[in-house]
Amino acid sequence: MAQLWGGRFVGETDRTAYDFNASIGFDKRLFYEDIEGSRAHVAMLAKEGILTQGECGLILQGLTDIQEDVSSGKLEIDDTCEDIHSFVEARLTERIGDTGKKLHTGRSRNDQVALDMKLYTRKRVLRTDELLNDLLSVLLAVMEENLDTYMPGFTHLQKAQPITLAHHYGAYFEMFRRDRQRMADIYRRMNYCPLGAGALAGTTYPLNREYTASLLGFAGPTSNSMDSVSDRDYLIEFLAALSTVMMHLSRFCEEIIIWNSNEYQFVEIDDAYSTGSSIMPQKKNPDIAELVRGKTGRVYGALTALLTIMKGIPLAYNKDMQEDKELSFDAMDTVENCLVLFTGMLRTMKFRKERMATSAMNGFTNATDAADYLVGKGVPFRDAHAIVGRLVLYCVEKNTSIEKLSLEELRSVSGQFEEDIYEAVSLKTCVEKRLTLGAPGPEQMKRAIAEGRSYLEEGTLQEQIGGIQNLQVTTHPDILAKSVETINEFGGETNE
Ligand code: ARG
Repeated sequence: MAQLWGGRFVGETDRTAYDFNASIGFDKRLFYEDIEGSRAHVAMLAKEGILTQGECGLILQGLTDIQEDVSSGKLEIDDTCEDIHSFVEARLTERIGDTGKKLHTGRSRNDQVALDMKLYTRKRVLRTDELLNDLLSVLLAVMEENLDTYMPGFTHLQKAQPITLAHHYGAYFEMFRRDRQRMADIYRRMNYCPLGAGALAGTTYPLNREYTASLLGFAGPTSNSMDSVSDRDYLIEFLAALSTVMMHLSRFCEEIIIWNSNEYQFVEIDDAYSTGSSIMPQKKNPDIAELVRGKTGRVYGALTALLTIMKGIPLAYNKDMQEDKELSFDAMDTVENCLVLFTGMLRTMKFRKERMATSAMNGFTNATDAADYLVGKGVPFRDAHAIVGRLVLYCVEKNTSIEKLSLEELRSVSGQFEEDIYEAVSLKTCVEKRLTLGAPGPEQMKRAIAEGRSYLEEGTLQEQIGGIQNLQVTTHPDILAKSVETINEFGGETNE
């Protein structure tokens, strides 16, 4: 039981209490962020003359050695320390002696963990954006190839009006585009550095918070020190955005499951993304789609849990906040995995275009167009609606459809019908006449696709903000260069 805070204590911590309190089992994920934060902190301490240049060089070298040893597997992050912060400090002191004990000058684990979690989350926001971008590219490619792949559009899961596959996918394109916009919003709002807030009330050392913020690629330091250590809004926003991503994926999965059912057979999911049954040899199940739909629940769970954890916490840091980690990590992993698998499934899914077109023709999806035809002949829309209603009833009784009726049959319901009705209610006409902005007509779809293409050309969030330092927190060359520079600049000489 290695602790950073033994001085004030006489008795030993109860073993179960120690285990209950310890977070190393899960916050070891923050190892790289913790090292990066410490690098920035120590470089700043030296710059401000709080540590000597020699001390800084020694600590930076020690941190780099620890990082390399953990990366190579030579050093294991075991559970002998309470948390990842204690682990790094303990290993550092073992390696470089008493200078290691100076690392935590002017810092608390409260601003340290606030920083680590922010750095980690920021990285995951960028990754999620990238995966959403991959999904959008697949959607757009399918749209480009399916401008005239007809299918029924539904309301109440009842056939409504004919649309195209391009139009249907276009709806999801908009949803996932908004998800990406949420990532960008979250990134911009969260990108302020809490380091230097201390335990809650800043410190008495002349810390240069602007400097650490810029070293770590933040837009600047956070403002109020109490808020800095107890803010987890950005995490809640991220979980809310991830929940929305999952809601979108889940709706899409539900549709794919329906399209893949024996009754519909609109699509065939590739073998790579289907599974069989242990007893029924004929089965090819859409398990991936079902699992993505199911995993939506655990991401919503993470959001609800964190909101509940935070709701009763007085300012500033309280240990409750340690509970932000496991569920957030799980939600982040879940969403990334779901996005990767879902995108792969979509990329390889085949469409049975004839079945889709036949289905689009059945179910009176051209009834609105028949009514619009009568309106074109001068019949008021409400009367046209009633006439076509009677026509549908007639077809239902005869088990046929509008386009299959003879002109006499049609004219027996309304004298306004003429030979051109057949063209007017054909699938092609029904879709092509839908010209309003956002409708499935080919002109509108071509415009939407061109617009989508130029949107994708803007690149990922990471590419867009490429000018900001340290976007990949653990390996960004600027930060590594800074460490090396600092070592070169300060290494060797000490003021002692
Ligand atoms: N493991 C803690 C967490 O995740 C780190 C901060 C500990 N701070 C403290 N005052 N005990 O929140």
